Amino acid sequence: MSRTVYVNGDYLPEEEATISIFDRGFLMADGVYEVTSVLGGKLIDFEGHAARLARSLAELDMVAPISHEDLLAAHRELVAKNDIDNGLVYLQVTRGSAGDRDFAFPDPETVPGTVVMFTQSKPDLLESAVATTGIRVISVPDLRWHRRDIKTVQLLYPSMGKMAAKAAGAGDAWFVEDGKVTEGTSNNAYIVKGSKIVTRELSNDILHGITRSAVLRYAAEAQMEVEERAFTISEAQSADEAFVTSATTFVTPVIEVDGAALGDGTPGPVAKRLRELYIEESLKTAV
Ligand code: PDD
Repeated sequence: MSRTVYVNGDYLPEEEATISIFDRGFLMADGVYEVTSVLGGKLIDFEGHAARLARSLAELDMVAPISHEDLLAAHRELVAKNDIDNGLVYLQVTRGSAGDRDFAFPDPETVPGTVVMFTQSKPDLLESAVATTGIRVISVPDLRWHRRDIKTVQLLYPSMGKMAAKAAGAGDAWFVEDGKVTEGTSNNAYIVKGSKIVTRELSNDILHGITRSAVLRYAAEAQMEVEERAFTISEAQSADEAFVTSATTFVTPVIEVDGAALGDGTPGPVAKRLRELYIEESLKTAV
């Protein structure tokens, strides 16, 4: 069945939605995005995603082409129009189209940004197989640009990382830079040693995950010990457990790093507890 999608204020059947071939998102990857999960028809962590969108736009000197209220209204409208129970809303904002190709940014007064949104239905979002089995990860060098804190649509290298993982029979790849893990291709990375959760500190080296921030808050509230620092692959391989977080996977256990099984090779208790906590708590603030 055809979805209803959102393009610059209009709700259209997906076959009728169009964007200029001169759009800078298409020509220059000059755009940012957000992915917000939907559980039981409600948006998870919407405020966090909206705040990060505003930050990404500001860091790139882009003018927000949609107000906070309209953004929330459009998310809700799309969820309703597409009858999404569990799934996600994808949002992309680009610097628009100046009607030609030019490296220089167009004047935002005359060239408005492009806003596109669509939904994806994922009935098994909560009961995904990997939540129970965990995933194996491989490491790959982090060859991305150095502003990973901005959620841009430059996803070619992360896609290549996913393909390398697939070719190796793994579920995902962790990026490594200067001997330390930065993050997963589309998630933040954690290890657990004893009762301590270790994850890289915030900087321009990683995306400031909205799920990361919520999970660390819930972990602290549950008196779990958290250390924010970078870790190596060999430290991960000798950890008791590991996991990743993102808006679409919540907390997903990692059971193997570069061929080395962690603990007894099955998902660990900390990842399981944090997944339960995250889902339970974020449902309370779902809108
Ligand atoms: N990815 N790091 C990277 C590189 C990411 O692409 C993502 C999210 C995260 C986790 O951020 P959050 O918890 O705010 O989802 C970390 C999204 C889900 C995606 O590209 O589909």
